Amino acid sequence: MEQVEGENATDGRGPSIFDTADSLPGHGDTSQVADDFYHLYAVDIAAMQLLGVKHFRFSISWSRVIPDGDGAVNQKGLDFYARLLDTLHAAGVEPLVCLYHWDLPQALQSNFGGWASDQIVPAFVKYAKVVFQALGDKSEYWTTFNEPITFCFLHYGAGTYPLFIKDLRQAWNCSYNVLRAHAAVVKEFRALVPGGRICMCLNSEWAVPLTNSTADVDAAQRKMEAELGIFADPIYKGDYPASMKQRISSLPKITPQLAHDLNGSMDYFALNFYTSTYVAADEGATCTWGRCDFTLSQTDKAGDLIGAEADSGWLKSTPWAFRPNLNWVNNRYHPKEIVVSEIGWDVKGEGTMPLMQALNDTSRIDFFRNYIPEATDAVNIDKVPLTGLFVWSLLDNYEVGAGYQNRFGVAHVDYRTQQRTFKASAMYLAGIFNSSMANA
Ligand code: NOJ
Repeated sequence: MEQVEGENATDGRGPSIFDTADSLPGHGDTSQVADDFYHLYAVDIAAMQLLGVKHFRFSISWSRVIPDGDGAVNQKGLDFYARLLDTLHAAGVEPLVCLYHWDLPQALQSNFGGWASDQIVPAFVKYAKVVFQALGDKSEYWTTFNEPITFCFLHYGAGTYPLFIKDLRQAWNCSYNVLRAHAAVVKEFRALVPGGRICMCLNSEWAVPLTNSTADVDAAQRKMEAELGIFADPIYKGDYPASMKQRISSLPKITPQLAHDLNGSMDYFALNFYTSTYVAADEGATCTWGRCDFTLSQTDKAGDLIGAEADSGWLKSTPWAFRPNLNWVNNRYHPKEIVVSEIGWDVKGEGTMPLMQALNDTSRIDFFRNYIPEATDAVNIDKVPLTGLFVWSLLDNYEVGAGYQNRFGVAHVDYRTQQRTFKASAMYLAGIFNSSMANA
């Protein structure tokens, strides 16, 4: 996908919405080369072996497989992912494959408005079937979508890169079409990948009431219900949370048929978790991003930040929030299994540091040192059925909307030479990967 692969026009790949946006005049960093993972994947898998990595999560680029999204299949695209999966297996690394990490084939956006239109559903099912038929036996773990709330509300609702569409109606439609597409794809998955496990990968920022007023405490709960519940409630409970239905007039309706099709469609719960936010009740605040009638801030009443700041402004270190967030998911949905599909940290200023300084990424080590024990406590003390945790990410890569300055990798990438160099955090994680804890 666009954050690592590069070679966006090679071997028959069609343009995605990122390629179109990249070609706009005056645009900064583009995803055209990224980490050149398309050519260097075997080098990166060797790096995984050196670190003792046992599981690797990656996403397939729809427009590599079906260049115009809905027409002829590009065998060379499928062959790339088959090679990647075979090389992972040969190295003893188990994959977790995502079907959609935001890089929509441009033709589907141009022809009917992409995820805002229900015409996307049959196209996504067709793509998924092609992938399951060709690659289904090469991975046990799959996800349909990565962070659908992010792409629906950023790309269609907030007017940001790469679509620049500012229309909340389209964002709500997107979220609904994601549910419909997920249900339909899981049906195909059951037939084509027997024994495989699939879910949707969701994300949340832990909500902390700004004050202990009942209104703020309620608002914090509503934020969790909205951010995760916009997808997880229809899947696990058959409808949107009552708190959303009461307040959001543009909320689509979950029909009995859709509720039926969604039931049982998450074999495990994949969660991306990074940070937390204060929540204050604010009757009348715009309904967006699953939210209504509250506002968010990262500073408390005294103006203090909720945690130390990363390079990405939205990311603050809040390890204490990880365990309650995992418990919240477990208590509300009772999933059989939870996998943390991303945690990670971009070091402030790392993009402009001399190499030797960037390699000494002590604040990233602190981040993992503080976050990981919260997950193990959730398992050992709270009995949360957490079975795995993925670090974002192995390599520095193209950060959507921010380019190459924000670096999340535990391996540094020199974008002029594509040379990879382990940072200190990679050594720290290798110690964990090779310990009995990681294999327990
Ligand atoms: C969420 C997304 O899945 C990924 O694409 C992004 O790079 C990281 N978090 C960091 O922002």
